[in-house]
Amino acid sequence: MGENCAIILAAGDGKRMKSTLPKVLNEVLFEPMLEWVILACENSGLGNLCVVAGYEHEVVERYLGGRHDIALQLERKGTAHAVMQAESFLNKHSASCDNVLILCGDAPFMNEDTITNALKSHTECGNDVTVITALIDDPTGYGRIVRNGDKISAIVEQKEASDKELLIKEVNSGAYWFKISALLSILDEFESDNSQNEFYLTDAISIILNRGGNAGAFTAKDAKIILGANDKRALFNLHKIANDEVINKHFDNGVEFLSLDGVIIGRNVKIGANAKIHSGTIIKGDSVIGEGAVIGPNTIIDNCIIGKDSVLNSVQAYDSTIASDVRIGPFVHIRPNSEIRSGVKIGDFVEIKNSTIGENTSMSHLTYVGDSDVGKNVNFGCGCVTVNYDGCKKSRTIIKDRAFIGCNTNLIAPVTIGEGAYTAAGSTITQDVPDHALAIERGKQNNKEGYALRKIKK
Ligand code: UD1
Ligand code: CA
Repeated sequence: MGENCAIILAAGDGKRMKSTLPKVLNEVLFEPMLEWVILACENSGLGNLCVVAGYEHEVVERYLGGRHDIALQLERKGTAHAVMQAESFLNKHSASCDNVLILCGDAPFMNEDTITNALKSHTECGNDVTVITALIDDPTGYGRIVRNGDKISAIVEQKEASDKELLIKEVNSGAYWFKISALLSILDEFESDNSQNEFYLTDAISIILNRGGNAGAFTAKDAKIILGANDKRALFNLHKIANDEVINKHFDNGVEFLSLDGVIIGRNVKIGANAKIHSGTIIKGDSVIGEGAVIGPNTIIDNCIIGKDSVLNSVQAYDSTIASDVRIGPFVHIRPNSEIRSGVKIGDFVEIKNSTIGENTSMSHLTYVGDSDVGKNVNFGCGCVTVNYDGCKKSRTIIKDRAFIGCNTNLIAPVTIGEGAYTAAGSTITQDVPDHALAIERGKQNNKEGYALRKIKK
């Protein structure tokens, strides 16, 4: 379908969302609705996209970051008026593309299957326009598809519909395939003589039919494609539908859920068979969870790769890699750019940032490791700190294999602890420690005999 292009209508304000964002940037399952629609186009092989932005269009432009064309609709005068603003995009592509898909930026569940099958029907029937429709039980609010026999004759908006038309359960999804030449030729024929004083794109059907052109309707298999959101309640409903769908896919793949309470999983997440997911677990970004891993309860994993059989309990982990057979938690924060190798054990109240932790290293309690390269089989006592920041710059700490970091050690970076070296509990280490040495840095103990008894007497 490289020969076609798409226009996404996204000028709406989202007043009822009470959002400061343009409506299409409100998120469903951690991704803006607009992103869902863009991805459906890209998955259908539509490379040339134009987003019609209006309300807070700078924000939409910034979000797109030059990925796609933008057309501006500064006054919101209806869906056909929005398409008119993309006239130069249509002209630009009219030589190389035959058809254009028009989509609503606030209907995130439009999908590849519907887009490609609708195009097939559009071209096979030789249509100038093909509207994508769905059959639903409660058509309230949607444009109704009026048919004459089995041919579409018009789309009538809820506000203009007769009592009889209101009973029609086939509705307009707001998505259409047009022959670009046909769409360009009718752009100045829309009128706003309706109850809303808007230029309705739905009038394209009767305009084309009146000129002797061909109009068709393609009914989507999955009525979900028409769903949109005007307020936060509807947005939550979309979010729930998307989340349920993702979780069902993981059930099919053999993932075990002990409870779905508070479980939210982004649609790009991959989870291996026999992984167990506990309640309160949020997994998002491009995360990959290995087979047999146990995640949660109360865990956030954002953009991390987690190996086989690792166990994360009450952990927050971001942009990091955790290998197999690792045990982490409870109450651990793994900050970006960390690599935790296999067999590592990380216990309660540990924070790791921008560090590599070698195989089978253990840090069981109350420790901060930042900007560090830690070797294999290192043992951290309780309460160790890599002091990586002097107020101006950050420096690295290097801890070689089999080192033993005594309880309550401060390692003032930059500093290197040699292979198999020890630091004594309570030491503040400012100089490199040679391989196999013991570094002690603390005052000599001085016992004042009978001090407490003398104090009580006073
Ligand atoms: C529209 C259709 C209706 C269909 C429904 C599907 C028309 C007249 N009606 O109604 O038949 O059932 O979608 O959801 O087209 N937009 C702009 N600029 C505008 C107006 C709208 O960019 O001036 C964008 C909106 O941001 C939105 C999309 O177009 O993404 C649809 O607009 P909306 O106002 O929601 O249309 P509906 O009244 O729902
Ligand atoms: Ca000390």
